[in-house]
Amino acid sequence: MSDATQRLQALDRKTVFHSSTHLRAHADGTGPAPRVMEGGKGVYVTDADGNSLLDAFAGLYCVNIGYGRAEVAEAIYHQAKKLAYYHTYAGHTNEPLVTLSERVLKMAPEGMSKVYYGLGGSDANELNVKLVWYYHNVIGQPEKKKIISRLRGYHGCTVMSGGLTGLPLFHTAFDLPVGPILHTDCPHYYWGAEPGMSELEFSRQCADRLEAMILAEGPETVGAFIGEPVLGTGGIIPPPQGYWDAIQAVLSKYEVLLIADEVVCGFGRLGTPFGSHMYDIKPDLITIAKGLTSAYLPLSGVIVGERVWAVLEDGSDEYGPIGHGYTYSGHPICAAAANANLDIIERESLIDNARDTGAYLQQQMRAEFSDHPLVGEVRGVGMLAALELVADRERKQRFEPADKVGLRAAAACHGQGLIARAMPHGDILGFAPPLLMTSSQVDELVVKTRAALDFISDELLREGVWRAA
Ligand SMILES: Cc1ncc(COP(=O)(O)O)c(C=O)c1O
Repeated sequence: MSDATQRLQALDRKTVFHSSTHLRAHADGTGPAPRVMEGGKGVYVTDADGNSLLDAFAGLYCVNIGYGRAEVAEAIYHQAKKLAYYHTYAGHTNEPLVTLSERVLKMAPEGMSKVYYGLGGSDANELNVKLVWYYHNVIGQPEKKKIISRLRGYHGCTVMSGGLTGLPLFHTAFDLPVGPILHTDCPHYYWGAEPGMSELEFSRQCADRLEAMILAEGPETVGAFIGEPVLGTGGIIPPPQGYWDAIQAVLSKYEVLLIADEVVCGFGRLGTPFGSHMYDIKPDLITIAKGLTSAYLPLSGVIVGERVWAVLEDGSDEYGPIGHGYTYSGHPICAAAANANLDIIERESLIDNARDTGAYLQQQMRAEFSDHPLVGEVRGVGMLAALELVADRERKQRFEPADKVGLRAAAACHGQGLIARAMPHGDILGFAPPLLMTSSQVDELVVKTRAALDFISDELLREGVWRAA
């Protein structure tokens, strides 16, 4: 490692506050060395040690068009020279923003009306909560404010979005959730279903329990339900058969708004433009981020459906101009980056590639890992996949959290030159590659993952942490 890299690492420990990092271990040097990332091309990234790594998580499921796309860099450069910034308050607008909004609405599920822009998925969900409250105030149902989210759902980590998130890690010692937030079941068939239950029956049970929660709370107090089409950070969990139909029937029965959090699924990750298309979800509000710009610049949004939009207009009549605005909402450079990103997605048919190469990824993952002694479940859809690592496949037993098997598996992948993600809850190895991945790169991903799992199997056996069933 060069002196320059070592200096950077030392300075990083002194100056940078990192996400999802043990703060003391990082600062005092007892934790893993900071990984200095330096470059990227296509599906590969390079670090400062000169290692090339296949990025099978596209950063944080966001670099969908791959790294190093000059076309996006040029769009950013040209827009920065022409008009680096102007706000969008009081009806001010700019060309890239209008072009982008028309495109997003064309791609979105039917019945969507307008797009409001932020910078990240968390702030977009923050706005969703406000819009649900505002909506119910305008229609004269001021009690209808509770928002139901799901255990293991991920919706961000600001005050409201962190509360919506159903993962204890994001609540502990932050005094979250605050406000009227409830969590219903995680739709994970593998862990949640009783023996002998079909997927359809399990979905029915999830919907029945949601209905029981709404009735217990009082339907007149429940304003919205939020869910990811495929649950992402909580473990990459595709919905069981019939799930979204059953859930939506309950929501419409009690006039509960539906927020589809499409931050991961939106813009092609499942092989359809949005996850809502795949599961026939009819949302009132949609959260977008990540794939909107492929993370070349930060940009998020809330797509507002017609039913909500009409009420927001009534709200302006009643209360005056909407009391919401970010300095950077509708930022022209971010919009230009998003347009260049969508150009690439369209021209290179990346959504079709996510469908076709995604199907190959699913097939190869199942062929290679369904019988692996460490793997309890292989799951996924499109360009999202996960391996559930278990101590005992027959008895469905987890490893002890202290054994950190998920983290060790991800570290072993790294040793093979592959970035997979240890999902934050449980022992789950997650994959969400860039949408332009080829089938030979899928083969590389599978071979490297296999080598990593075999490596940690030996290690766990040697240490006596595990006895292969
Ligand atoms: C489904 C979902 N919603 C919201 C967010 C929060 O987005 P951000 O990290 O941009 O605030 C994420 C981030 O991973 C996400 O996966």
